[in-house]
Parts: sequence; structure tokens; C-alpha cells
Amino acid sequence: MERGNEHGPLLVIGSTGKTGRRVTAELRRLGESVRALARSTPTPFDWFDESTWEEAVSGARAAYLVDAQDEHASERMRAFASYAVERDVKRLVLLSARGWEASGEPGLLATEKALKESGAAWTILRPTWFMQGFTEDGILRDPVLAGELRLPCGEGATPFVDAEDIAAVAAAVLTHDGHEGRTYALSGPRAVGMREAADMIAKETGRPVRYVPVSEESYVAGLVAQGAAPEQARFVAKLFGWVRDGEDAHLSDGVQRVLGRPPRDFSEFVRRAADAGAWGP
Ligand SMILES: NC(=O)c1ccc[n+]([C@@H]2O[C@H](COP(=O)([O-])OP(=O)(O)OC[C@H]3O[C@@H](n4cnc5c(N)ncnc54)[C@H](OP(=O)(O)O)[C@@H]3O)[C@@H](O)[C@H]2O)c1
Repeated sequence: MERGNEHGPLLVIGSTGKTGRRVTAELRRLGESVRALARSTPTPFDWFDESTWEEAVSGARAAYLVDAQDEHASERMRAFASYAVERDVKRLVLLSARGWEASGEPGLLATEKALKESGAAWTILRPTWFMQGFTEDGILRDPVLAGELRLPCGEGATPFVDAEDIAAVAAAVLTHDGHEGRTYALSGPRAVGMREAADMIAKETGRPVRYVPVSEESYVAGLVAQGAAPEQARFVAKLFGWVRDGEDAHLSDGVQRVLGRPPRDFSEFVRRAADAGAWGP
């Protein structure tokens, strides 16, 4: 068993994803030694292949965790967190989601529970919808490129959070004491509706982009027609339903509490994304 990991590297599990990539970059910018992990990294890590865990975890002092994102995620978290704690990787920072608690569905919080029960010095980050959904996830990016955001969000709004802010919070929590046993809800500074989001992207890019509210049924049918599994389509529709019903509109102060500065606004994200050519020239 490894001991004395206090000078060891910081693990980023999910390092090729939207937040993990940014957490890795931010930690490196801070001068930290980072072991970037995913199934495809030079040192591979697979939630479902425990033979990858030893090399991935060896000598590390803390880890950022994007979970397995499937029905086995909590069981995998329970196994991995115990494994890591036994090897002296005591500080574990989990990316969860703000909506899970409000959903009233205990299953959605099972991964958090598994981490808390592991004996780790845990911290949980619960972000709202990522702004980068509009640039890096098919579910919002494809409709933007198609010029029509057909979503079951009515006129509801959500305070999208910038994945750069999530990464900055994660890096701070991984590298500083005082965050153990805390849960930080992370949102942007104001709720933005899909109509406003579409208008802002259209204005900034010069592309025609408009918001068309649709029913949940027709949204699910559209996703399934594009090849999505019906269960997955219904789950995404339910998440958008929370936006429509206003359950996701409130602001959270996690970014300010951890970083001592306000979160970035959606308009800044759109400006930067457009400048970077995220929606084409
Ligand atoms: N998108 C949103 O608006 C939003 C809002 C709130 C919360 N969240 C939460 O954010 C999390 C997703 O984070 P993200 O967007 O940063 O990630 P992501 O972009 O979905 O990327 C997933 C990462 O996990 C890795 N991965 C996938 N399967 C793996 C496996 N079996 N073993 C090891 N690594 C694996 C992937 O790399 P490889 O494929 O190379 O292995 C990749 O690095 C989810 O838990 C979601 O609930 C998302």
C-alpha cells in the first residue's frame, strides 16, 4: 500500500471531457503535477476495469472525479473511493449535478452517497447546466448549428455555469484545505432562457438561430427519430422539464464562495465562443 502521498500528483478522472480537460489545464497552470486519466489517456483509467486502477492511483494525493455516468456509477464510485482511500488518496472531489437533489429521486444522489460513505475527505460540486453544452454537446450544439433550438423548455430559464468556472473551483478545492465535507452548488450569475440564449448566439455569430418551444412528447419523438434510446430521450426531456417549470432558475453562490469572485456571465461565454469559431466561421 502506498503511503505518504502528500507530494504526489493530482488525478483528474474524466480528463478528456468538458470539465476534466479544463481542470487539468488549470492545475497545470497553477504548477501542480497532474495525472490526466480517462480510458484513452497514456495511463488509462476505466471505471469498469479495475486492473487499470493501480497504476492510475499510485502515489496520488487527491482526485477529481467525473463518474461513470451510467446505472453502475454509484457502485463503481463506492468501489473506487474505498480503493483510493486505502492507498492514501484521501481528498476526493466529485462532479455531481445541482438538479439531482431537487429531483427528489434518491437514485440520482447515490454516487454522492457512495463517496461520502467511503471515508474520504470529500467535496461535492453540483453545477447547473454547462454553458459549454451550446458548444460541445450535441444536445444543444446541434440545434444551434441547425438554426432551431426546438426544446421543451417553455419560457423557463436556468443560470448556465461556465465549465471554466467549474474547473477553477475544482482546482481550488483540490489544492487548498478547508473544503472537506462541503457541497458547493455552482451556477452562473443569472438565469437565461433558451429564447435569450438563441438570440444572443444569433446576434454574436450572424447565424440564424431561433428558439422554438416544443412539447416533451414531440421532443422525445424527435430524439428517438435521430437514433436516441427512448429511455435516454425521456431523461433528457425531464431535465429540460425542470427548466421549463422554473425549478432550475435560482442562483447558487458556490463560485463566489470558493473563488471570491462572481461567476462568468453567459454573454461573455457567447462572445468568447463566437470569437473562437465554436459555431463555424
Ligand atoms: N453537461 C451539463 O450541463 C451538466 C450539468 C451538471 C452536471 N453535469 C455532470 O457532469 C458530468 C460529466 O462531466 P463532463 O461533461 O466534464 O464529462 P464529459 O464531457 O461527459 O466526458 C466524460 C469523461 O469521462 C471519461 N469516461 C467515460 N467513460 C469512462 C470510463 N468507463 N472510465 C473512465 N473514464 C471514462 C471520458 O473519457 P474517455 O471516453 O476517453 O474514457 C471523458 O473524459 C456528468 O456526471 C453530469 O451529470 C453535466
